[in-house]
Amino acid sequence: MVKAVVLGAAGGIGQPLALLLKCNLHITELGLYDIVNTPGVAADLSHISTPAKVEGYLPPDDGLKKTLTGADVVVIPAGVPRKPGMTRDDLFKINAGIVKDLATGIATTAPKAMVLVISNPVNSTVPIVAEVFKKHGVYDPKRIFGVTTLDVVRASTFVADVLGDVRMSKQIVVPVVGGHSGVTIVPLLSQSSHPLPPNLSTSDYQKLVQRVQFGGDEVVKAKDGAGSATLSMAYAGAEFADKVVRAVKGEKGINVPSYVPLAADPAGAAQLTKDLGKELEFFSNTVELGTEGVVRIHPLGPVTDKERELLQTALPELEKNIQTGVNYVAEAY
Ligand code: NAD
Ligand code: LMR
Repeated sequence: MVKAVVLGAAGGIGQPLALLLKCNLHITELGLYDIVNTPGVAADLSHISTPAKVEGYLPPDDGLKKTLTGADVVVIPAGVPRKPGMTRDDLFKINAGIVKDLATGIATTAPKAMVLVISNPVNSTVPIVAEVFKKHGVYDPKRIFGVTTLDVVRASTFVADVLGDVRMSKQIVVPVVGGHSGVTIVPLLSQSSHPLPPNLSTSDYQKLVQRVQFGGDEVVKAKDGAGSATLSMAYAGAEFADKVVRAVKGEKGINVPSYVPLAADPAGAAQLTKDLGKELEFFSNTVELGTEGVVRIHPLGPVTDKERELLQTALPELEKNIQTGVNYVAEAY
């Protein structure tokens, strides 16, 4: 029996994500919460002939509490998306408060749930969830995840493009580490499961890195004011949630990329600090999952000089973003 919950379930990501979770045969209960439209979304999904029982709640009558009761996995895509010309950090003002309130609800109702944060800016909203949990005395760094899967999905797709065979994209695995915005997104292309062409020019390499780092902007620009990635994000979020659900159910050896508190695995964190030459509280890397959340944070592996340069650019920005989230909660309490 696994109960999954989507907070922000009526939105551009929330609806297709809820659909994909309803289609996940491991999930037996699906709770949907939003400030609008969730009863309708839930009624619609409930007619699909898959096992998950679906319920949708709004804020009145303790809707958040009802949605979260018994939750094993909580996915949060609640919050405003970007418009052209905005950075993810421009969303902080509105989304920080939304994430803080939802995290408070999880801390008080489902403190043992795995929490998957999609709301931007992920580099700062994940620290907000961690700090709220600390304030409530229920912090477990193994159970809080920033969803960076879309960066990895994009890297696979864009590398397949460069290799000239889109049919291969599903098999291509490229570690993408760091954080989830602009220069903090660092694709380790040298570790791609499918090597880049040996004659790829420096400028084509740079274009590929840039495309992974700013893939979100491509969608924001194309949507022209109507929001950011929703369908590809729902796909990525459902893929990530599926792995967490399977790990919770006892499947072993599941590895995922995620932006996690490094306190989740002190030994892994120490190695990562050595690899990076800097201590950070949160970082996105491949992590191994178990029934209780993160069991291991993998080392970075061999990186090229160019990738080390990208990391050196990412780290100060990431550190700043983390501090923004931590400070926000400190000031709010
Ligand atoms: P959207 O506006 O379409 O949907 C957001 C939903 O959140 C809306 O239905 C809204 O009613 C709901 N909401 C607002 N306040 C709420 C609250 N207090 N409680 C519950 N629900 C609330 O936006 P979207 O396109 O679905 O994007 C959502 C977020 O996901 C944005 O912050 C966006 O930047 C982020 N995002 C992250 C990634 C990633 O890779 N991590 C990718 C794409 C988008
Ligand atoms: C993305 O990477 O598509 C998301 O973070 C949304 C955005 O604002 O770009």
